[in-house]
Amino acid sequence: MSRVAPILVTQRVPEPALDRLRQIADVDVNPDPDRVWTSDELLAQVPTRRAILAMLTNRIDSRLLDAAPDLEIVANMAVGYDNVDLAAANERGVVVTNTPGVLTETTADLAWALLLAVARRVAEADRFVRAGRWTAWGPMLMLGTDVHGKTLGIVGLGRIGQAVARRAQGFGMRILYHQRRRAPADLEGSLGAQYASLDDLLRAADFVSLHTPLTAETTHLIDRSALEKMKPTAYLINVARGAVVDEAALADALTSHRIAGAGLDVFEHEPDVAPALRTLDNCVSVPHIGSASLETRTRMALIAAENIVAVLSGHPPPNVVNRPRRRA
Ligand code: GLV
Ligand code: GLV
Repeated sequence: MSRVAPILVTQRVPEPALDRLRQIADVDVNPDPDRVWTSDELLAQVPTRRAILAMLTNRIDSRLLDAAPDLEIVANMAVGYDNVDLAAANERGVVVTNTPGVLTETTADLAWALLLAVARRVAEADRFVRAGRWTAWGPMLMLGTDVHGKTLGIVGLGRIGQAVARRAQGFGMRILYHQRRRAPADLEGSLGAQYASLDDLLRAADFVSLHTPLTAETTHLIDRSALEKMKPTAYLINVARGAVVDEAALADALTSHRIAGAGLDVFEHEPDVAPALRTLDNCVSVPHIGSASLETRTRMALIAAENIVAVLSGHPPPNVVNRPRRRA
């Protein structure tokens, strides 16, 4: 094998980030822009690497870390890092970083795109026009539901949840939110958001929008019984992580019209999507593109690169999410 570069980039990213990395060291990039390496392929890539610019498609676990004894940093190009075993990284003294902040507004935009699309049947109506089925304007054609003036339930009032709430103010919505800890009164006041238990939120909201990280506590937070509590006229929006929702239960709820619809950016077993979700008209699905604007993906890649540059230059990286053991 020819010389292995110290930095590995597991999927192609915007060029400015690669340029930044190349200023300090050689970089190897997955040459196939459309293919995610399997765990074994990734494993074969990591020996002797000092830094990995990783994606949420890469499982970074103890097996992988053991194959990379020289590894100093995993820079995850995402705000979420549920794909990384932080305990395993801590034990081995590997720094893990994320890309917070820059994708907040972009992701909130997509939550709204999905909310509006499913409420006003935009994707379904587009398919209708494309199929040549539009024969006449009709007073009963493609009737959806109003968004303005309704109740929005935000689960997880972090940066993205707050950005979604700010947009809801423009739609004159009543805003409920739930999270483990109640937000400060001044934040509640500026957003016009009212704290509720998860049950109360599920029972009252016309739109339930999920903005929690994926953790042990949030896995299947929206399960069959949670869906049962929602109004039959309510919609579920998920731009967080697929496994926050029990996808099989959601497919049943949508099939039986137990709830009105869903707008989904994330899925439990990406890139697989439950068959029902791919055929139902009351479900709008997009392929995990929450942060996918050129501007934001460029900023995310640059932040990941800067974290790598910092660590490889012996400086503290700006976006550490773990507590790595000091290396001997
Ligand atoms: C995308 O899902 C992210 O976590 O940035
Ligand atoms: C992520 O950026 C969040 O805190 O919502």
